[in-house]
Amino acid sequence: FLERSPEGYLEKPETILETKPAPYMAAFSSQGPNPVNPEILKPDITAPGVSVIAAFTRAMAPTELAFDERRVAFTSMSGTSMSCPHVSGLVGLLKALHPDWSPSAIKSAMMTTAIDVDNKGESILNASLAPAGPFAYGAGHVWPSRSMNPGLVYDLGPDHYLDFLCALKYNATVLSMFNGEPYKCPEKAPKIEDLNYPSITVVNLTASGAMVKRTVKNVGSPCKYKAMVRQPAGVHVTVSPDVMEFGKKGEEKTFEVKFETKNAKLAKNYAFGALIWSNGVQFVKSPIVVKTAA
Ligand SMILES: *[C@@H]1O[C@H](CO)[C@@H](O)[C@H](O)[C@H]1NC(C)=O
Ligand SMILES: *[C@@H]1O[C@H](CO)[C@@H](O)[C@H](O)[C@H]1NC(C)=O
Ligand SMILES: *[C@@H]1O[C@H](CO)[C@@H](O)[C@H](O)[C@H]1NC(C)=O
Repeated sequence: FLERSPEGYLEKPETILETKPAPYMAAFSSQGPNPVNPEILKPDITAPGVSVIAAFTRAMAPTELAFDERRVAFTSMSGTSMSCPHVSGLVGLLKALHPDWSPSAIKSAMMTTAIDVDNKGESILNASLAPAGPFAYGAGHVWPSRSMNPGLVYDLGPDHYLDFLCALKYNATVLSMFNGEPYKCPEKAPKIEDLNYPSITVVNLTASGAMVKRTVKNVGSPCKYKAMVRQPAGVHVTVSPDVMEFGKKGEEKTFEVKFETKNAKLAKNYAFGALIWSNGVQFVKSPIVVKTAA
């Protein structure tokens, strides 16, 4: 049976504000875990990417189909291609405010200030309206105004990335290609999970536990920060030291995060938590992802 005279209708467009819940994850949004290096959480962050109206090229039709001869100044599109410019624009604003911040410091500022609850105050949902997690949204949804003043940043320079390549057992030939000259890996072999990333992931946790190192830099006023941990199910996470006092801007401090399994069964699948450094005003939040050895 073929419908010979199909009919459709369009309703008058209407702007609806304050829809709830928002934001929530699009069904097409790519998800973790990271298949290449599971010790590095991916995605990092999420930003608006559904039905975003933006300027459009006149070199093609809004449908991108050859027979469509329409040319429009604006169109609505969805995807990472829409999310990415939101984040890139924010990076530009942060760089203008803080010209001395490295790319990693800017990324850290956006990740540690991102929000992981929606406008109902509940966990960000996925497209089936079930709670999503860090494998869907990373650190959370970008919060531009908060990222201007993150308090602390997890900074990284070229040498940290070279040490990361050392941890991945890249050989001297490949390392010197990246470095432009030979690079000597540290005597004590670096660990992948010690890359000074604004998220913390431990895979293959055994009964003997695991230890991860991080360094934070104070980018605010002199301040005292205290660590709070949202514990992942079946795992006990402790931070040492759990109080850090920064006397001046630019000061760096290193801490250790210790993972112990209380109930390995509970963390057989990935378990999620968070580490939050707070001075009472700022909340420097890193997602924690952990999985016990199979
Ligand atoms: C949402 O999460 C639930 C529970 O984890 C899962 O079963 C479902 O497939 C997810 N939906 C999407 C669209 O990712
Ligand atoms: C170094 O690694 C590259 C890429 O895996 C490989 O092609 C090359 O043969 C290696 N060189 C040495 C000296 O082992
Ligand atoms: C974790 O353990 C599994 C099973 O032993 C192994 O296949 C995998 O390579 C390990 N992953 C990492 C990142 O060590």
